[in-house]
Amino acid sequence: MEQGEKKQGGANGEEGATPAAAREPEQKLELKRLNKGEDEEDVSPAKKLRTDHSKEVATHYNTLQEVGLAARSQSRIFYMRNFNNWLKSVLIGEILEKVQGAGSRDVSVLDLGCGKGGDLLKWRRGGISHLVCADIAEVSVEQCQTRYEDMKRRSHANEKIFRAQFIAADCSKELLSEKLDDPKLMFDICSCQFVYHYSFESEQKADMMLRNACERLKPGGFFIGTTPDAYELVKRLEASDSLSFGNEVFKVSFESKGSYPLFGCQYHFNLEGVVDVPEFLVYFPLFEHMAKRYNMRLVLKQRFSEFFDEKVKKDQHRSLMMKMMALEPFPCEAGGQQATENTEQYCHAKEHCDKAGVRRPVGTLSRSEWDATSIYLVFVFQKMS
Ligand SMILES: C[S@@+](CC[C@H](N)C(=O)[O-])C[C@H]1O[C@@H](n2cnc3c(N)ncnc32)[C@H](O)[C@@H]1O
Repeated sequence: MEQGEKKQGGANGEEGATPAAAREPEQKLELKRLNKGEDEEDVSPAKKLRTDHSKEVATHYNTLQEVGLAARSQSRIFYMRNFNNWLKSVLIGEILEKVQGAGSRDVSVLDLGCGKGGDLLKWRRGGISHLVCADIAEVSVEQCQTRYEDMKRRSHANEKIFRAQFIAADCSKELLSEKLDDPKLMFDICSCQFVYHYSFESEQKADMMLRNACERLKPGGFFIGTTPDAYELVKRLEASDSLSFGNEVFKVSFESKGSYPLFGCQYHFNLEGVVDVPEFLVYFPLFEHMAKRYNMRLVLKQRFSEFFDEKVKKDQHRSLMMKMMALEPFPCEAGGQQATENTEQYCHAKEHCDKAGVRRPVGTLSRSEWDATSIYLVFVFQKMS
């Protein structure tokens, strides 16, 4: 892997200072007052039914099939998924280092919106002591628990695997602290990966999710996560001549544009048939403001492209990247195939390769995958003592 990946950000105009076009939607995001209940004028059962998407989200994730490695490697977004997974690994690894470096020996973690347990191995590698996994999709929680039990069964006799509890609950409505086996349990980390945006449907839901994330954090503990960047979504929507944008791997569709309420600003996200659910814009300054209620201070907020640019400089992260196949080799081996036959998808990598002295292959993502993953941002909050 060379520097091919850096080119992607450049090719998409996403590196460096925020371009003027990116700042514009910030002003357009409607700053309503944060009065409780202002979005609740019509509380008729019909309206409530229409506006509560929890069931739809749970059903969607419950019916998602787990596919094996062979099928996954055939996916058009194989490398992008690996890239996202690498990014989570780096984030989780660095936070664990901080927590352990500060003297915490028995690290406890809350995985909020754990899904099918995609991060279990990261927690195992990090040597934590206790994990609580919670998700609205009960089938996913069951699969997560089965995965954990398999992992424990297959572990070496001298390896101590963390204890775990699994909770099926709507974390934007139910209080997790009331469901803990150990009611006194406090967490060092709450990890909320690709989840928080589902709660921005209403202030009540966003606040409950935040409460679950933060109220049982130890002083100095971290709330970390990944979520779509509302500015980026609105920027792309405003640049589109319709109500949607995307490419062959993802599509984002809004119902209207020009005005963006603070809560309940819904869009549909479709990712290669993997995710097709209603999501909500998370206006970050508001998220940050709300987090202060729980004594949380924002430590880091970075677009994926920025996070990547910074982390890829470290050898350990680069070698993990290779191990996780987080970037696609370009050009591919003789007789092999790129993720797509469309050569325009690799112009940025080709340009980079054409430079004198660049060793081939370079690591990259096809343009469409980069356009999809570069929607997201990483956040880290820390509980003040
Ligand atoms: C994109 S998946 C991410 C899963 C996992 N965190 C990962 O990174 O692999 C989003 C997850 O959020 C969960 N989720 C959405 N709304 C939720 C809610 N209100 N309470 C708990 N989990 C929720 C979904 O069921 C789904 O498992």
